[in-house]
Amino acid sequence: MSHPALTQDHPILDDFRQAMRRVASGVALVTTGDVEGNRFGIAMTAFMSLSFDPPSLVIAVNRTASIHKPLLANGAFCVNVLSDSQEALCQDFVSRASHDRFGAGEWLADERGIPYLPGALSNIFCAVGSRQSSGSHDVIVGLASRVANRDEISPLLFVDGRYGAMAGS
Ligand SMILES: Cc1cc2nc3c(=O)[nH]c(=O)nc-3n(C[C@H](O)[C@H](O)[C@H](O)COP(=O)(O)O)c2cc1C
Repeated sequence: MSHPALTQDHPILDDFRQAMRRVASGVALVTTGDVEGNRFGIAMTAFMSLSFDPPSLVIAVNRTASIHKPLLANGAFCVNVLSDSQEALCQDFVSRASHDRFGAGEWLADERGIPYLPGALSNIFCAVGSRQSSGSHDVIVGLASRVANRDEISPLLFVDGRYGAMAGS
């Protein structure tokens, strides 16, 4: 029995893209800073819990993204998990040039200069653990060092190229 994908004439990439459109993700603004006080951040859906022992997550960062180099240089970052009321902030963040993103939203900085968004559902501060390159991206383990959670659980979702909210949240 042949696998359905192998019988198709067109490249698998199109089907893969369509498959990923059916995967719902949370959305986060992943941030870091450098010693000169510059702030870096990107919107991200490729983040997920890795383990509770130790508390860790993984993020996938495009090596061409403006945050890639400073994140590795700093060795630490923050995953700001967005709420469904923060879609406009996310859009604003995505549309602005990298040096201009922190004008939108109210940001604070931790003692290491890592920007965080107190209004996010969660701020998960991480130290960079292991790293694996794969194609265009680096898969980076984040070892959680500090976490702040708001009371509500109403995540911003991204599915089929659109933002949405959880039913009933
Ligand atoms: C909804 C959404 C999800 C994204 N997820 C990721 C992601 O998981 N990893 C990543 O490297 N870039 C992701 N991006 C792209 C980055 O936000 C950013 O636009 C891109 O890396 C270019 O960054 P730069 O302008 O800072 O170089 C996503 C963009 C959007 C709009």
